[in-house]
Amino acid sequence: MIAFSSEGLKDTPRNARDMGEFVFNLATESSAEQMNRSSERLPEGHDEFVHAQTPAGPSQVVRPPRVLGSPASLECIVTDVVQLRANSGRELDTYLVIGEVVGVHINEAFVTEGRFDTAKAQVLARCGYHDYTVVREIFQMLRPE
Ligand SMILES: Cc1cc2nc3c(=O)[nH]c(=O)nc-3n(C[C@H](O)[C@H](O)[C@H](O)COP(=O)(O)O)c2cc1C
Repeated sequence: MIAFSSEGLKDTPRNARDMGEFVFNLATESSAEQMNRSSERLPEGHDEFVHAQTPAGPSQVVRPPRVLGSPASLECIVTDVVQLRANSGRELDTYLVIGEVVGVHINEAFVTEGRFDTAKAQVLARCGYHDYTVVREIFQMLRPE
């Protein structure tokens, strides 16, 4: 399952709700500028793929396209769109969209010994504010027995 939240019923949660489908695409260091451009405030109906100069590719199970250059894309079918509440019970203008992954695209170049290689893909992570980092190093820890 994949979930994302939206402050306000923006195009993304509305499209997901109305279509019942969405695609998650992993952003990387090399696609950081395009990822950021796709967040620009644009009029409804404006194609963000064109605006961000990011080629789109067909999905296999769902109708929305995927980001062709992404090392991993997950096609999802919406299971719930939840309007969140404050602890007082007051409804907030914030929405949680939850989807089940029904299709997986992984670029083989980023598979090492049968597993997705997050460091090789140089995956982008947001650190709050306008700060980002790139995953370049991975370490493992096993939970104590
Ligand atoms: C890295 C990143 C993360 C973001 N995360 C969120 C988020 O969790 N919730 C949200 O409402 N907006 C988030 N935004 C802002 C949206 O991308 C932005 O409002 C965008 O215009 C929404 O597009 P839409 O109107 O096509 O749905 C994020 C932007 C960036 C660059």
